[in-house]
Amino acid sequence: MPEDIQAIERDALERLAQAGDEAALQRWHDEFLGRRAGRLSGILRQLGSLPIEERRTVGSAANEAKARLEAAYEARQEELRRARVEATIRTGRLDVTLPGRRPPRGRLHPITQTMRDLLAALTELGFQIVEGPEVESDYYNFEMLRIPQDHPARDMWDTLWLDPMPGGPWSAAQGRASQTSNAGRHSMLLRTHTSPNQIRVMEKFQPPIRLAVPGKCYRKEAVDATHEWQLTQIEGLAVDENVTLADLKGTLGELARRMFGAERKIMLRLAYFPFVEPGVEMAVDCFVCNGGGCSMCKGTGWIEVLGAGMVHPEVLAGVGYDPERYTGFAWGLGVERFALLRYGIDDIRHFYSNDLRFLEQF
Ligand code: PHE
Repeated sequence: MPEDIQAIERDALERLAQAGDEAALQRWHDEFLGRRAGRLSGILRQLGSLPIEERRTVGSAANEAKARLEAAYEARQEELRRARVEATIRTGRLDVTLPGRRPPRGRLHPITQTMRDLLAALTELGFQIVEGPEVESDYYNFEMLRIPQDHPARDMWDTLWLDPMPGGPWSAAQGRASQTSNAGRHSMLLRTHTSPNQIRVMEKFQPPIRLAVPGKCYRKEAVDATHEWQLTQIEGLAVDENVTLADLKGTLGELARRMFGAERKIMLRLAYFPFVEPGVEMAVDCFVCNGGGCSMCKGTGWIEVLGAGMVHPEVLAGVGYDPERYTGFAWGLGVERFALLRYGIDDIRHFYSNDLRFLEQF
C-alpha cells in the first residue's frame, strides 16, 4: 500500500508540472484529490479493509501525501496566476497610467433647465417668484376666475377632481368653496393651470404686483405629441396703475427673444379666457417647417406657447382692487412647449419617458 501512495504522489507531481491552465489544474485536482473519484481518496476509502495494524501507517501516509499534494496544487495555481500577469505586462496591454473610468454624471432635466432659464429671465425683467398648491379648490381654480359651476368654459380644462374627505386636511378650503359651488359636488381638484395663484397673490398683496408662479398642472387630456396630462406652467401677473396691453406685448416679446433668439417669429392673436379681457395667445413659428405647415404644428405653421390677456375688471374687483384705478396683465405659459421649441424636440412625451438616450443629450 505505501508503495501505491508513493507512486500516486510521484505521478501526481509530474502531471501537475504539466498542467498549463486553470482548466487543466481543475482536471488534475479531480483526478488525484477529488472526494469521489480521486485516486488518493480511493486509498483512504479502502482503509477499512486493511488489517488493523496497517490501517494507521497507511492512513497517515495517505493523509500526509494528500496535504503535500494540496500544497503543491496551490503553489502551482499561484505560479500560473503570476505567469498570466507577467505575460500581460510583457505584451504591454496594461497601461497603469490610464485614468480611471469616470462614473456617469447626472444632469438637469431639460424641463428643469428651461424652467430655470425662464425664471432667471423673468427675474431680470422685474418679476418675483412665488409658488402655490397643486391640490386646489374649485374656488381658486375656477370660481374666482369667472368660471362658475356649469359654465361651458369649464370644458377648456379637463379636470381631475379629488374625492372629498370629510374632516380631512382640505375641509377648510372645502367650506370656502361651498360658498359658491353646489353642495355635494367635488370641490377639490388637481389644479388645471397656475392661474388660481393670480387670486391667491392678489388676496395677499396690494399693487404694484409683478409676480411669476411656476408649477405643475394636471389635465385629463388625450396624450399626443404636444399634450401631456401633466404639464408645467409659469403664471405671470403684473398689476399697477396704467398697465396696458402694450406692456404685456413688450414683456412677453422680450421673454421670447431671450428664450428663442431674435430670429424666431412671434405672433399674438385674440383668444378667449374668462378671466381676461381682451385675451390673447402667443405662438412661435414652427421650428420643424419654419412656418410652412407640418404635423408638429398641425399644418398651421405656428406653435402655441402661452395664453395671456388683461386681467378682467371683475377679477380685480373680486379680490377687492379698484378696477377704475388698477389694470393688469397676466399670462400662463407652457414650459414643455418652450422646451420643445428651444431644443427642436418633436414629441412632448420624450420628456417624461425617462429614456437615458434622450435625457443624456441635454
Ligand atoms: N390659465 C390659462 C390656461 O392654462 C392661460 C392663461 C393664463 C390665459 C393667464 C390668460 C391669462 O389655459
